[in-house]
Amino acid sequence: MMHNTQLALGLLAATLMVAALSACAPATMPTAGPVCDPVAAKGMALKDHCLTCHSMTKQKGGPSFKAVAMKYRGNANAEANLYGHLTSDNLARMPDGETGYHKCIVKENPEKIRNMVRWILAQ
Ligand code: HEC
Repeated sequence: MMHNTQLALGLLAATLMVAALSACAPATMPTAGPVCDPVAAKGMALKDHCLTCHSMTKQKGGPSFKAVAMKYRGNANAEANLYGHLTSDNLARMPDGETGYHKCIVKENPEKIRNMVRWILAQ
């Protein structure tokens, strides 16, 4: 009996450690930033072709995700704003100078979208 409880606690501790390791900020450098799963977020950004127009650090067709994170730093509505940006029809000034609709991913899983938004804001 006792043994099983210890095993369960061990598993719980291991799960918590894995969760901590997948945070956006490296475990050795704690920040007040939001926690997300960067691997899943980047996978979604690739799948949804976000990285065709966005780079992490360089201005491409669209602003770099680092620039977006800087723009929203300290903004309490950042997550909600970007969630809205990605799930509704938004006019954006495209690289060719034309105005077009920004990519809308409203059909994706809301939790996954939120995760990607937190990842962008953590750059
Ligand atoms: C066809 C090119 C293109 C694609 C594909 C694209 N974007 Fe963008 N994105 C832009 C442009 C251009 C802007 C700047 C819009 C403006 O300033 O009017 C922008 C702006 C943004 C912003 C900043 C919004 C703000 O409020 O400042 C975020 C965040 C963003 N995109 C995320 C994404 C994500 C995530 C995806 C994939 C689901 C994606 N984009 C796909 C071109 C693109």
